[in-house]
Amino acid sequence: MFDLATTKVHNEARQGEAFAPFDLDPNQFKRRFYIESYGCQMNFSDSEIVASILNEEGFGATRNVEEADLIFLNTCSIREKAEQTVRKRLTEFKKLKKRRPGTLVGVLGCMAERLKAKLLEEEKLVDLVIGPDAYRTLPQLISEADGGQKAVNVLLSRDETYADISPVRLNSNGITAFVSIMRGCNNMCSFCVVPFTRGRERSRDAESIIRECKDLYEAGYKEVTLLGQNVDSYYYVPEADEAPVTFAKLLEKVALIAPDLRVRFSTSHPKDITDEVLFTMSKYENICKYIHLPLQSGSTRVLQLMNRSYTREWYMAKVDRIKELLPECGISSDVITGFCTETEDDHKETISMLQYAQYDMSYMFFYSERPGTLAHRRYTDDIPEGIKKRRLQEIVDVQSKLSHQSNLRDIGKTFKVLIEGDSKKSKTAWMGRTSQNKVIVFEKMHYDLKPGEYVLVYVNGCTQATLLGELVK
Ligand code: SAH
Ligand code: SF4
Ligand code: F3S
Repeated sequence: MFDLATTKVHNEARQGEAFAPFDLDPNQFKRRFYIESYGCQMNFSDSEIVASILNEEGFGATRNVEEADLIFLNTCSIREKAEQTVRKRLTEFKKLKKRRPGTLVGVLGCMAERLKAKLLEEEKLVDLVIGPDAYRTLPQLISEADGGQKAVNVLLSRDETYADISPVRLNSNGITAFVSIMRGCNNMCSFCVVPFTRGRERSRDAESIIRECKDLYEAGYKEVTLLGQNVDSYYYVPEADEAPVTFAKLLEKVALIAPDLRVRFSTSHPKDITDEVLFTMSKYENICKYIHLPLQSGSTRVLQLMNRSYTREWYMAKVDRIKELLPECGISSDVITGFCTETEDDHKETISMLQYAQYDMSYMFFYSERPGTLAHRRYTDDIPEGIKKRRLQEIVDVQSKLSHQSNLRDIGKTFKVLIEGDSKKSKTAWMGRTSQNKVIVFEKMHYDLKPGEYVLVYVNGCTQATLLGELVK
């Protein structure tokens, strides 16, 4: 219950969602699959690749698990709670499988990679286990499983980026889309399981990224988010004699597709975000002024144990530089409380850092030890859960105030907003986002507007999580 402090979706706190594209005729397919995704955006994006591979094989997506021949869970291992959620869901599927014996259940994603064949022993009714780099082999594995074998492929790859696969946009609003630009992570933060579940970092062919973004724009999308665990270390060399494409160059290429295509990116590692990226952001109006810059801890000593390779002072200088070059930029963060050996003084340093950076919002977690990580091997998980949670609550309280203050500062300003759809609470209001990634809700009035249009909205109120406004003519 303490795991997430904001209303925004992220990581495993984002509930599993069943996906099916709206525009496919279900009767054209020989079998139906149902896919539920957990974890970070990368996983949701991977589910769209999986859907594309399955479509090619004549499988159609369904939102109704009861009518599925194949059930997939795309899983997350980032914290223990994320894995527990998936195990619970698997137990529910077991009952369904008993009623419908031909149904296959497959585990995809990070838990598949972490637990490998062990998952088959632990979860007896799982038929397929497929790691994040092995989705191309899904059709083969499905036929093996059809033949009664347990099918496993958890090989990690050094070069798989699924560059040539056009994702089937699942559950899409038709306005905003995620485009994966790299896979894996080489950073080895000591608390983190991702380098083990996702393998070595590799960058996707720049041309294929541009093509995918152009296709989205032509299909009416107005915003792309470039995705990777560490986008700032994107580096692609097209041919031996051609100039390498850095992340700043890639951002520029995507920004140049069309002035009314918004560009976002996630996630930046503070150590890798360069001035070149910040200059590129300031040069193009359509690159959104928002940076997710995970802090993790405000104490240099803890940061060292976490293997984050920056100090408190270095991080502060980075925040200063962002605010200097991009005065309007929104900044958000990830914070972990109760990492190994964390003292009350370390914790206070994290709190003071939140106040220094004035984050618009943060995703906050208490430390969850993950088997096999550097921290698990080197340090003792020595902070009692009660203390971890108490510190988390303190951080949450501080961030809540900061988020509210940040919203209050926007009252009286006018923002360019991309309309995404109806407000959740009222059909007579629109919901959209500012460049800074803040959600804003405003009455539709008598104007004839549609999702995907840009409007100017004057902010006249707010809650802690949302701006409230009115259309400017
Ligand atoms: N690549 C991204 C983060 C991926 S995981 C980055 O480097 O920013 C998202 C967040 O989950 C991390 O930033 C961290 O705050 C949190 N996290 C990762 N491992 C964790 C663990 N073992 N316990 C608690 N939180 C963790
Ligand atoms: Fe994990 Fe660190 Fe890589 Fe992010 S940068 S995925 S926290 S190892
Ligand atoms: Fe989870 Fe894997 Fe993403 S562990 S956060 S789904 S990379």
